[in-house]
Amino acid sequence: MAKHQAVGVDIGGTGIKAALVNLEHGAIIGDRVRVATPQGAKPADVLQAVREVLDTLEVTDQRISLGVAFPAIVKHGRTMSASNVSDDWIGFEAEKFFEDGLGRDIAFTNDADAAGIAEARYGAARGNDGLVILTTLGTGIGSAFLYDGALIPNTELGHLRHDGDSIERWAAYSAKEREQLSWDAWARRLQELYSHIERLFSPDLIVVGGGVSKHSHEFLPLLELRTPIVPAVHRNAAGIIGAASLSHG
Ligand code: BGC
Repeated sequence: MAKHQAVGVDIGGTGIKAALVNLEHGAIIGDRVRVATPQGAKPADVLQAVREVLDTLEVTDQRISLGVAFPAIVKHGRTMSASNVSDDWIGFEAEKFFEDGLGRDIAFTNDADAAGIAEARYGAARGNDGLVILTTLGTGIGSAFLYDGALIPNTELGHLRHDGDSIERWAAYSAKEREQLSWDAWARRLQELYSHIERLFSPDLIVVGGGVSKHSHEFLPLLELRTPIVPAVHRNAAGIIGAASLSHG
């Protein structure tokens, strides 16, 4: 059994989520566990929160691999940026830090890249050739580029510029909540984001992930694009499923 299972942990700016995943079907087994991301999201506190979710999951079989997804650029195990987490992560050997702290090997990746892998292997982008761009709309905006199913890692479309700042500050789901925007008002911001993406990259398909993708009927029909745009099949679980999948061979 264990050979078709892995654990995925998705560290976000707001919550840290984990679950056991069936890798044949890309489906969560049992309950998903969640804790709030600690205030300030400093490395030691995040590690402690990850320990907590793993303890709650009670997966003790060491043959079950573990994948961890994190909201930053990840190069050779190092986190190279920090937008919704502490600056301590910039240039930090995060993969080794988690491996030492958890006492086991992990696969460590960017959270949106993990979600992109989940959708390519088990979801909305499965079997899609050409360029698929997945964006996650949450605390920030993450992106994953998949070309003929292969991931081009560490794209950061949330940091396209808008009014002198990262566009995620203005167009992420957190901006909708913070400013109490109607779906219409938020969709006008998304229109600007996705039109720009379309102009720059001519994708064949756009997939929209993040928790708000469960309300996609409220905003996707308001967008006018040439490119098909669809919600992520795995919605907010895509990061967990992709992290688990990447940890396995
Ligand atoms: C980070 C990305 C991340 C995204 C979603 C952005 O602020 O720069 O690396 O994928 O948030 O969490």
